[in-house]
Formats: sequence, C-alpha cells, structure tokens
Amino acid sequence: MSENANKIKHLQNNRKNARLGGGEKRIEAQHSKGKYSARERINMLLDEGSFEEYDMFVKHRCTNFGIEKQTYFGDGVVTGNGTIDGRLVYIYAHDFTILGGSLSEAMSAKICKIMDMAMQMGAPVIGINDSGGARIQEGVNALAGFTEIFERNILASGVIPQISTIFGPCAGGSVYSPALTDFIIMSQSNSYMFLTGPSVVKTVTGEDVTQDQLGGASVHASKSGVAHFVSVDEESGLQLVRKLLSFLPQNNMEDAPQMACTDSIDRIEEELNDIIPDNPNKAYDVTEVISAIVDNGDFLESQKQFAPNIITCFARFNGQSVGIVANQPKVMAGVLDSNASRKAARFIRFCDAFNIPIVTLVDVPGFLPGTGQEYGGVIVHGAKLMFAYGEATVPKVTVILRKAYGGAYCVMSSKHLRGDINYSWPTGEIAVMGASGAVSVLYSRALKAVESPEEKAKLTTEKIEEYTEAFANPYNAAKYGYIDDIIEPKNTRFRIIRSLSSLATKKLSNPAKKHSNIPL
Ligand code: HXC
Repeated sequence: MSENANKIKHLQNNRKNARLGGGEKRIEAQHSKGKYSARERINMLLDEGSFEEYDMFVKHRCTNFGIEKQTYFGDGVVTGNGTIDGRLVYIYAHDFTILGGSLSEAMSAKICKIMDMAMQMGAPVIGINDSGGARIQEGVNALAGFTEIFERNILASGVIPQISTIFGPCAGGSVYSPALTDFIIMSQSNSYMFLTGPSVVKTVTGEDVTQDQLGGASVHASKSGVAHFVSVDEESGLQLVRKLLSFLPQNNMEDAPQMACTDSIDRIEEELNDIIPDNPNKAYDVTEVISAIVDNGDFLESQKQFAPNIITCFARFNGQSVGIVANQPKVMAGVLDSNASRKAARFIRFCDAFNIPIVTLVDVPGFLPGTGQEYGGVIVHGAKLMFAYGEATVPKVTVILRKAYGGAYCVMSSKHLRGDINYSWPTGEIAVMGASGAVSVLYSRALKAVESPEEKAKLTTEKIEEYTEAFANPYNAAKYGYIDDIIEPKNTRFRIIRSLSSLATKKLSNPAKKHSNIPL
C-alpha cells in the first residue's frame, strides 16, 4: 500500500470511529431508551445527503479527574450545516453517547463556530439538546463555554431564527440556551428541562416530585409555557422543525418564502356568516374561523396548551406566511390574562423581527379581573402585549369578530397602535365595557332610587337595551374611521388577502434608539 493510500485508510478509519461517537454499546443504550443518536437525528432532519460536518476531529483538552483517558473524536456534539427544503441551516446535536453530551470547552467552541457562521451566512440555527449539562470535570471552563453560547444566542436573537429541540435531559444552566432561542420543541417521550433536579428540590423545599412532574414536556407546554411545541416522539419533533422553518425567512433581512397557493383566494365561506351565536355569552371556536380563512385550512399553533384563551399560529394567505393572534372565546370567554398577554406579545415580537405580517382576530371581553391577576402583575404583562403590537412595523390586519371591550380593544392591534387595516364583522361590539357593567356604573344612582325590584329590573333591561343599541355594533367606531370597513364574515379570506397584498410595500420605522424598554 502506498503512503498516500495508508493515509487515506487512516482517515477513513478515523471517520468511522468518529461516527460511532461513544461507541456501539452506548448507541445501543441510547436506542434502548427510545432515543436516537446525534447523527441519526441530524440525518432525519436535513435533506438527504446534505449534511456537511465540521470539527469531527476535535477532542476535549481537559486533564482533571482522569478524564484525559476518555477522549473521543468530535467530543460530545456533532456540528455542521445542511439544507431543509433546499435552504441552508446550521445545526448542532449533543451526542449523549460521549460523556452524556456534557458540555466541554471544546464542544462550546464547536457550537460557537457554527453559530458565528450562521450569523455571517444569515441562516437559521437548530440545536438538538440531549445533555447532562456542564462537564463537571472541566469546572469553570464548562461554565465559560456555556456562557459563550448564551451570548451568541442573545446576539443572534432577531437576526436569524433559532430553534431548539429537547430530546433528553436539559438541566441546570443548560436550559438557558434553549430559553434564549425563539422556539422550543420537546418530545413527549423522553425530554425534561429544569434548573434544579428533583433531589435538590427535595432538599430545599421538601417537595417530592418526579423529573416529569418537575420539567416534562406536558408541564412546560401547559403550565410554564417554556415549550412552544410538544411532539409525540423525536421523528415528529424533527418534522415539526421542518414545518416551522417553512413559515420563516432565513434571517431578518429577508421575507418568508412565498409558496404556491393551491387554494382559491376569493373562496366564500358561507358558514362564517352564522358562526357568531345570537347569545353574546355563548362561545364558539375561533380555530374554525382560522381554518376557514387560511390557505387550505392549514395552520401551525405555537404554545397550543399554554394560555389557550389566546391562539398564536403561523398560516398562509395566498402563499404568504403570516402570524395569527386570535382571542379564543371557547376558553374563559377569550379574556386576556397575564399568560395570554405574555404568550401573544412574544409571538408578535418574533413575527415583527422576521418580517412576518400579523393578522389579529378579536373577540375579547376585556382583561381578567381579580387579585390573582393583579398580584401577578397583569398590568405589566398586558403592557407587554400593548408594547409588542405598538412597536411592530410589519403589516397588521385586524378583524373584530365580536367583542372588543375596554383596554382589550386598545391592545388587540387597534388602529391607535398603528393597525394598518382594521375590519369588523357586523357582529362587532366595540365599547368601553359590556352592557350590564356599563349600566350598573352609569345608572347606579338612578337604580338605587328605585325601590321596587320589578321596577329596578325593568329600568336595568331598558338601559341595557339602550346601551346595546348604541355600542354593541361596529358603526360607532366606523363613524370615526377606527374601523376601515365592516365586512361580511364570508368574505374575510379575500379581504385579508387583498389587504396583505396592498401592504406588501409598507415602509415604517420606529424612532432611532439603542433599544426600547419593553415592560419585562
Ligand atoms: C460529566 C457526565 C455529566 C456531566 C453525565 N455524565 N452528566 N459527565 N459531566 N455533567 C456522564 C455520566 O458520568 C456517564 O458516564 C454518562 O455521562 C451517561 O450518564 P448516565 O448518568 O449514565 O445517564 P442517565 O442515567 O441517562 O442520566 C443522565 C443524567 C445524569 C440525568 C443527565 O447523568 C445526571 O444527572 N448528570 C449530571 C447532571 C448535572 O448535574 N449536570 C450539571 C448541571 S449544572 P459513563 O462514563 O459512566 O457512561 C450545569 C451548570 C451550567 O449544567 C451553568 C451554565 C450557566
């Protein structure tokens, strides 16, 4: 064998070894837990054959606690780039088979390298997390490594989309990198995220909790709102990444990809004319409105289980990607509370950062009253939503379906927060508050003066009817130009598409500043 052939053989062997990560036994152990290896995950995610790996031969350089005897090609992370639907993405995937995917200084350098490249190339970064956290043997170097990643997450925020999947443990400070990214996808079967694990919780607070109760996918999807999506398993989680990216631009200087639209743009949806119940206190499902108006009824809901009184989703109108925010009358009458405000505010800011127009569907009785909300800072959380809508410069189309009361009217992409085109259905009710509340305030003295209960009830009904007549319609707002047009529900799809088309060249910028001071 020639010397060259020897060297090539050596390279091939090294590559083979590197691709085995921590070895076949550990890959098997990974499989036996229902988990895939880092490279299997990458191959499932990317377009076939598109993965270009970097730093396959990096090794950790730590010599503490005998760890120098445990070195592997690539260390605990696989990094590189590839394509998804032909579009460039950068990717890193923790390799749990190597020292539990725990983060070393060398791994951090690998991850930072591809994050820097992603920023220069203007391409999304996807992180597949499955790690035991900071590599204990490396001490402060591991902490420094984590923090180098965090800083890059922060600087990349609003420049390139950043998506994290959690397919295993994500504990301690390592939760912060995913938390700094735009979207977190957790697999139902095998992921958990927490700052301190069950044993520390037990010591500090005395609580007995399992990993799943503390930080499983369901908990983060429904209670904390940390997870934006939950997938049944890893395969569907990776498919979700592909779908999510299809709605997003590559970076903040580009628009989301325009897809071919196979749905009629002037599709009439007769049933929308009847979807609002005659009884104003009766609910309906706003997702039926969404699926009736968007292309092919297809939409992708973010944070579906968290604050379900508001819906946030991506969809398309005539092939153009939009973010939809909709009050959900089916849950708590669609009232705005702290969680709903936070959820929608973050979604709106994401859309605005990435040039994705926002369509808002309004049916909201107001903000949720009570000490629970006030003590929890609903003022400041509601202000976040106001702030997000008010600073957004992307096209904003609003449709009031039914109630738009009080502060909630102001907040939900009203004309006064630079809503570009604001429609109402004829069923719109735009007022400071609902009829019975208004009457009890406006006529409290008159009602107190009436002694007979029958007379009191009669007067109340009369005044409620008067108020309803005056305000439970969109014409008063339309009179002032706060509503640009009152539209037939069945035409909503076409009207939104036409509005978005007219707003395609919108140019609006905010005053120059270092950054705003959103009420966090
Ligand atoms: C070094 C680690 C490691 C770590 C796991 N391993 N975590 N090595 N540093 N942080 C090693 C294990 O020793 C083992 O090596 C291999 O990875 C697989 O781990 P197992 O424990 O066998 O796997 P499993 O039973 O599935 O348990 C996984 C686990 C557990 C729950 C993640 O390993 C664990 O609790 N690890 C420690 C988690 C932790 O406390 N991390 C530090 C968090 S603090 P061998 O050779 O035996 O196969 C932190 C601070 C960051 O991250 C701050 C940033 C600001």
